[in-house]
Amino acid sequence: MRINDFKNYFPNLLNTPFLSESVISDLISSLERQGWFSAENIFPEAPLFLSTCKDLYTSGDYFSEAMIGKNLNQVREPSIRKSEIFWLEQNDTQLSPYVDPLFRSFDALKNILNESFFLSLKRWESQFALYRKGGFYKKHLDQFKNNRHRQITLILYLNDCPEGGELVLYNRDQKNIKDFIIKPKQGSMVIFFSNQIYHEVLPVTHPRYSITTWFRDDLEVFL
Ligand code: OGA
Ligand code: NI
Repeated sequence: MRINDFKNYFPNLLNTPFLSESVISDLISSLERQGWFSAENIFPEAPLFLSTCKDLYTSGDYFSEAMIGKNLNQVREPSIRKSEIFWLEQNDTQLSPYVDPLFRSFDALKNILNESFFLSLKRWESQFALYRKGGFYKKHLDQFKNNRHRQITLILYLNDCPEGGELVLYNRDQKNIKDFIIKPKQGSMVIFFSNQIYHEVLPVTHPRYSITTWFRDDLEVFL
């Protein structure tokens, strides 16, 4: 069932990375200057991924309530976060023909980030995220205190949110000052340092779909 869904939606999915050279150079300089970068019309395949995401959601088994924390420390914390997620597995042979081009873009970006910021990113993890009406994510950092391996956060937005669901980015140095408010738009992106930029998702009035990816500096641990 799942493979057919993807075949229908991705007859000839992107073959090239979604980031052009000029975007990359803006991205690097903004990350350096302010710790974050955002851009619109970066991800033309967003409508395709949106259909898939909706399909996986309605078919029932794929999404689960998002948790806070990592592995054994994961807790359900409905006062901090209300959304649902579906992890995109990199070794899922059914999905891979269709999501691999996107994953290759993540790999390319990982290498560029390593070269530009002297990081030692080794891998990334990626999930579909859905915030339904009433969903939110209170102000937080993506790097956990007891697990510091998430270094860079990248979010690709799959649909427009005319109101509600804005992402608030706080200033890198003055953590109570709002630097910027991003209204999710289909095909737009935001990227920031996971350990520097506090952010929050304001209450959602419209279903809000995205792909969130974290670039990490550790290798995978098989529990
Ligand atoms: C997260 C997060 C923000 C967004 O998943 O950690 O902060 O705009 N997401 O989806
Ligand atoms: Ni976050």
